[in-house]
Amino acid sequence: MPAPATTGRPRTWTAAIRCRDGDHTLELTDREVVAERLLRTSRKHSFDPDTDVDWDAPQDPDRFYMPPQLVSLYETPLWDGLTHRRRVELSKREMCSIASFGIWSELQLMQGLVGHAYRQRYDSGHVAYALTEVADECRHSVMFGRMVRTCGLRANRPHPLEYQAGKLVNAVYDPIPMFAGTLLVEEFTDAFQRLTFPDEEIQPLIRQVTRIHVIEEARHIKYAREELKRLVVRASPARRRVAAYALAQGARLISARFIDPSCYTAVGLDPKLARRVAARSPHRRATMTWSFRKCTDFFDEVGFLDGRARTVWQKAGLLDA
Ligand SMILES: [Fe+2]
Ligand SMILES: [Fe+2]
Repeated sequence: MPAPATTGRPRTWTAAIRCRDGDHTLELTDREVVAERLLRTSRKHSFDPDTDVDWDAPQDPDRFYMPPQLVSLYETPLWDGLTHRRRVELSKREMCSIASFGIWSELQLMQGLVGHAYRQRYDSGHVAYALTEVADECRHSVMFGRMVRTCGLRANRPHPLEYQAGKLVNAVYDPIPMFAGTLLVEEFTDAFQRLTFPDEEIQPLIRQVTRIHVIEEARHIKYAREELKRLVVRASPARRRVAAYALAQGARLISARFIDPSCYTAVGLDPKLARRVAARSPHRRATMTWSFRKCTDFFDEVGFLDGRARTVWQKAGLLDA
């Protein structure tokens, strides 16, 4: 393997940014060094869901599709009132709703990555990795769509407003919200999936799909984090604050919307009531705080939990006060 193209810069270095909550020192790694590492791992650990998932695995009607503690209504009176089969059905619907949300996010990320690659040096490892990630996400979206159909369901469309907004996201190239938004989605879904795939009580099909996704997403998270750090040190404080606030609002919206209301209707519940109950459930709030923790720890490190942004995260129940 040829050594990464040298840029004349050191392989790693540190830079400081000043925020209202103090100074932050960031450790940076050269783009090409990161890209070559990620390309090496991609060559070794990539999957073909067509052959690496047993699509014909029987689905046991009594087995959960995700650990029950990750279902939005767990430990609420509404959950207590459901039969076991209905709880299982709700776990299936919610898992497929997360997969649908995943496809919607991946479609946007793929567009963003192509736009990013378009603006870089085409023979660089950085571009090669961006395109490798697009290829990963292509396979993921096909895999999620097939998973939903294999579960006997159809993918949920986002709310019409979010659907239209999604078309505009990549109209203007802006890598800070693109990479930060990627982390927002990838880190919390990753937390859910990391608990799902090792759990032997869960449907085998879901365990296989989530395992593939967790392994391949770890690289995407690394790529986004490293690029975001480089972008943040070059951005003005005002630019960082605007991005931080927009991200906090994005997190608030995502956490309230990634479970489609039709999941509740399917098990005989009033969707408005169910959504309210989930939003107020202490267990659910703790689960969401936990699922965003890796993301919020990183955002704190790069100054994205500064000032008003932190309050939005806390009020949404996604960050400990
Ligand atoms: Fe993915
Ligand atoms: Fe990804």
